[in-house]
Amino acid sequence: MKYRKLRDIEVSAVGLGCMGFSHGYGAIPTEDESIRLIHKSYDLGCTLFDTAEAYGPFVNEELVGKAVKPFRDKIILTTKFVPVFQEGQEIPEGKLSKKGVTNALNDSLKRLQTDYIDIYYEHRVPLDSRVEDVAEWMSEFIKEGKIRAWGQSQSTVEQIKKAHAVCPISAIQSEYSMMERKFERDVIPLCKELNIGFVAFSPMAGGFLSGKYNKNTEYKGDDVRRVITRFNPENVEKNQPLLDLLHTVADKKGITPAQISLAWMLHKNDFVVPIPGMRKDERVVENLGSADVVLTDEEFNNIETELNKITIYGNRTDEDIHKLGTVHAIETGK
Ligand SMILES: NC(=O)c1ccc[n+]([C@@H]2O[C@H](COP(=O)([O-])OP(=O)(O)OC[C@H]3O[C@@H](n4cnc5c(N)ncnc54)[C@H](OP(=O)(O)O)[C@@H]3O)[C@@H](O)[C@H]2O)c1
Repeated sequence: MKYRKLRDIEVSAVGLGCMGFSHGYGAIPTEDESIRLIHKSYDLGCTLFDTAEAYGPFVNEELVGKAVKPFRDKIILTTKFVPVFQEGQEIPEGKLSKKGVTNALNDSLKRLQTDYIDIYYEHRVPLDSRVEDVAEWMSEFIKEGKIRAWGQSQSTVEQIKKAHAVCPISAIQSEYSMMERKFERDVIPLCKELNIGFVAFSPMAGGFLSGKYNKNTEYKGDDVRRVITRFNPENVEKNQPLLDLLHTVADKKGITPAQISLAWMLHKNDFVVPIPGMRKDERVVENLGSADVVLTDEEFNNIETELNKITIYGNRTDEDIHKLGTVHAIETGK
């Protein structure tokens, strides 16, 4: 495993996204199996574990808290609050208020069985919200020792700049993969300029980039792939040129398409850290193993040149996922 920095917080170059153990990808493993996979990731050098109050809601934090307890002080634990009420959180001030977020943080600490969170994210940053207020609250939580650092998810350049000026942000966690590169235009360069880490969620584009799914694959239950357009059978077919590129490069290097897709983003920026979701032993080994893949500049440039020629069809939007009834779509401008 290799390590890199999210501002001044050191993390493994590839982290573990824990959402799928309770939420978002259909049938879930048993608690014992989930804990075993989290421990396996840690044993392989993974030190970044991501969860959120919204996953479940709440039960994912309970699971992750229980799983990481034996090595809590050796890892970076990240969680998030959403700006809208979850079950039982109603207070007159509203969720996006000092009291609303303080309550949410205290509850996350309890569920995670810890007295501090390493990076606390605002899960969505509504366009009509005052980011400076949230930054102010975060600065107080840092002083109180409840969080070490904070971040935003799917925020805009303007929101990052305004909030960072009040309380420096350590990480932006937003969607980034070979299939979703919109943040390369503005947010990622801004992160570089301001020394903010960028944590890439859905780095495997929901598994597509592994090349192990096809247009006939069926998704059930709360699996977001039932509703996101990237997984329309028609788009799966139209996106084959990307898989062809990945297979060609992977075959030449004797590794897998999944590993090439993660190695590509690791090579491109040293402050980017992908957090794939993985619920099988071989995926844990494969994805964490991508941290050790070395691409030469020539290999990277060839991938980049070919990637730039490929049109990507479909995407993953909150509005589409909202149709499953498991998350709220919040107007964020991204
Ligand atoms: N901030 C946000 O708004 C936000 C949104 C979404 C996610 N997240 C965070 O980001 C994490 C990752 O997102 P994600 O789960 O969408 O990431 P992802 O890794 O792009 O997609 C996960 C899916 O891809 C499959 N997969 C991953 N690696 C694979 C491989 N090597 N071979 C075959 N299939 C593979 C997984 O399979 P199995 O699980 O079946 O093994 C799972 O179905 C989440 O767990 C969560 O912590 C944050």
